Amino acid sequence: MEQQPQAKHLKDYQSPDYTITTLALDFQLEDSATIVTANTHFVRQNQAAEQVFLNGEHLTLLDLKINGQAYTDYQVNELGITLLNVPAEFDLEIQTQIDPQANFSGEGLYKSGDALCTQCEAEGFRRITYYLDRPDVLAKFSTKITADKTSYPFLLSNGNKVAHGELADNKHWVEWQDPFPKPCYLFALVAGDFDVLKDSYKTVSGRNVALEIFVDKGNLDRADYAMGALKRSMEWDEQRFGLEYDLDIYMIVAVDFFNMGAMENKGLNVFNSKFVLANSKTATDADYDGVEAVIGHEYFHNWTGNRITCRDWFQLSLKEGLTVFRDQEFSSDLGSRVVNRINNVKIMRNHQFAEDAGPMSHPIRPESVIEMNNFYTVTVYNKGSEVIRMIHTLLGEEKFQAGMKLYVSRFDGQAVTCEDFVKAMEDGSGVDLGQFRRWYSQSGTPLVTATDEYDQASQTYRLHLTQKTEATADQTEKQPQHIPLDIELVSEAGESILVGGAASQVLNFTQAEQTFEFTDVASKPVPALFRDFSAPVKYQYDYTDQQLAILIKTATNAFARWDAAHNLFNKYLITNVALVQQQQAIELPDFVIDAYRSLLLDETPDLALIAEILAFPSQSALWQLFEQVDVDAIAQARKAMLDTLAGALSDELLCLYLTNRSQSPYELTQQAVEKRNLSGICLSLYGRVATEHANELAKAHYEQSDNMTDTFAALSAANVAQLDCLAELMADFDSKWRHDGLVMDKWFALAATSPAPDCLEQVKALMEHPSFSIKNPNRTRSLIGSFVSANTALFHAIDGSGYAFLGDVLLQLNKINPQVASRLITPLIQFKRLDATRQALMVAQLQRLLAEPELAKDLYEKVTRGLDQIK
Ligand code: TRP
Ligand code: ZN
Repeated sequence: MEQQPQAKHLKDYQSPDYTITTLALDFQLEDSATIVTANTHFVRQNQAAEQVFLNGEHLTLLDLKINGQAYTDYQVNELGITLLNVPAEFDLEIQTQIDPQANFSGEGLYKSGDALCTQCEAEGFRRITYYLDRPDVLAKFSTKITADKTSYPFLLSNGNKVAHGELADNKHWVEWQDPFPKPCYLFALVAGDFDVLKDSYKTVSGRNVALEIFVDKGNLDRADYAMGALKRSMEWDEQRFGLEYDLDIYMIVAVDFFNMGAMENKGLNVFNSKFVLANSKTATDADYDGVEAVIGHEYFHNWTGNRITCRDWFQLSLKEGLTVFRDQEFSSDLGSRVVNRINNVKIMRNHQFAEDAGPMSHPIRPESVIEMNNFYTVTVYNKGSEVIRMIHTLLGEEKFQAGMKLYVSRFDGQAVTCEDFVKAMEDGSGVDLGQFRRWYSQSGTPLVTATDEYDQASQTYRLHLTQKTEATADQTEKQPQHIPLDIELVSEAGESILVGGAASQVLNFTQAEQTFEFTDVASKPVPALFRDFSAPVKYQYDYTDQQLAILIKTATNAFARWDAAHNLFNKYLITNVALVQQQQAIELPDFVIDAYRSLLLDETPDLALIAEILAFPSQSALWQLFEQVDVDAIAQARKAMLDTLAGALSDELLCLYLTNRSQSPYELTQQAVEKRNLSGICLSLYGRVATEHANELAKAHYEQSDNMTDTFAALSAANVAQLDCLAELMADFDSKWRHDGLVMDKWFALAATSPAPDCLEQVKALMEHPSFSIKNPNRTRSLIGSFVSANTALFHAIDGSGYAFLGDVLLQLNKINPQVASRLITPLIQFKRLDATRQALMVAQLQRLLAEPELAKDLYEKVTRGLDQIK
């Protein structure tokens, strides 16, 4: 690398010298030579400024005028243009040429299949024209698009369509106007030929909004669910947050090439087709949930992100943490709250805790960034949402909504900071969030240790808590956090112990060490700690098996029951890893097996909860329990425990499978979803011990299936247990779906998570499969991403073959799509807790990448942070 990329720092923020009030864009679309003309009105903000720097990358400058006159007093380089000696107010007309056809990065204007589309967040607008590409410059946009009528019958942009017309040479044009000032990252343009699903929504104040979903021709039968989800989102935001849509039209376009889930461009969302297209033949129940969550997420951004946006990119969690919180609440209000909570907690424990313990550790409001795209992280999004959730827990729904109301009225139309948000929540609720603000500036996962004592004579229970956050890669000094601890006390007889009349309460745990005293406690209690994961922390309490069994059975909070069940598994996993290391047989007492058995035999079973409990932790989840990760011992202990459990519970598993498997035609009801999920999990576990019988069942399950959830459940069970029918079922699926990349993504992901020893060879061979293309981010994530992040045993093979493979792929992707490369690298930089042999092999791959002369900023930042760990 000739010039090393430089970091930007939050502390260096300066408001812009100039702002832009209006922008008129004109696009003459051509696949490999699009001409963009931008007319921009500049107004000086800083009286001392005489020049202005505009970002611009990968652009060919054709023409530049100021106030209508040719202007030559400027300097251009690969990052942008500096206009020298400019007046206090002026009009800039700038013409550039770009090449969408050659742009595979997923940023700027690019081709996705036969369509042209844009992605501007975070800093992609600078690949379209020279501009003040920063979120605190808000301008009114109008966009005129001219293109060939046959290739591009639909020409879309933000806001309302104000004019259109026909031209010679089979061309046409459309002009759009967005009445709301916005930063350029919310700009969008789409041109293509689509099928359109149209509907409408009447807002609470009676306005009519046209809803349009654009999909590839032939896919109309997969758009209904997304349309329903959009209408549900609009209604939910009115009811729960009092927020109403503000334009006359809301458009969603589904594209096949997209780096992320979707993008909230004002009035014109662009979606990864994975989060739009769904019908029962092509999508699993989990896919439906994904569609609903992402449709909701992007819709909710209209207020939390678009009407009120970020001052700078360090404030990203202002819109993302809050909007994730809102989409999680939406999914929980409409579906199963406990299942949603469990899945979101898994993301925190399995991925966010790992990020915070690794070289990319950062607070939810990062302080230093080289490549902004690297900070669309589980920390900013998911821990950001947990921080909002803690505010909700501390304030309660009513005061939280009062705070939100003040936030919206105070800052509508502005670009603001996380501090502005917290202050509004404080002012609106009257609750002091002074110490709480540390969650925005401090990285790392606090470890809470709890001990207790009970005094029978005085009927007093004391809970002693300590909290400690270890130093992280980015920050050594840590202070105590304001931790809301939701606690329930259960008697050893399994009854809820009321404290002050309530079954549970939220403790304000703010000191390094603190003791809470409970009086009038009639018998020795078992504490259910951090119910609903009330804070993003790890906690430690020496539960006995009996205590955990009591919580599994009797905690009033379903999340607490699940947590106790997994704590019991984790407790024995830790013991058994030590036994495996000493080459001894694992242990799993009958008492423990019976605790799980009694769940399965429950007379009024909670099917969703049982399924969540039986989905035992993944290997990477278990890694979080150890300071030193013994990859092989953890894999071996986990497998032995699952085999033992499945063996001891095989009758119950079979019975649950048979009673819950699909026997009637497909329906999308909560109960049918729960049954499909549970039967699939039972079949997978049963397959571990009754191979032949499970083989017959899986084959029949596949053959009789009338929906993708059951089809995929059969395949998964056959894959996990390597049943005889696997090859035949995989071949059948391939022949049915190879024309459809989105459906094949499931098949690629399954092939990549095979426990077969030759899986890596298979993955390499599948890169030649006709449905695969490394240029398509979904395909790459399914095949390669699944291998590196979900096939723990083989990615971490001790011969280094998995690491070398990822190194090869990253060098290839570095040139095609650095954003995708930078996401795939995650497991390769989190090596600090692994053994020396693996560390050396991983470091060697990072050094190989660093030696690449044109390493993209995205990878450079992660590779160097990774290598910093061995300094
Ligand atoms: N703002 C988008 C969201 O959370 C995220 C996003 C979409 C994005 N595409 C991107 C972020 C490309 C960075 C780069 O909904
Ligand atoms: Zn978002």
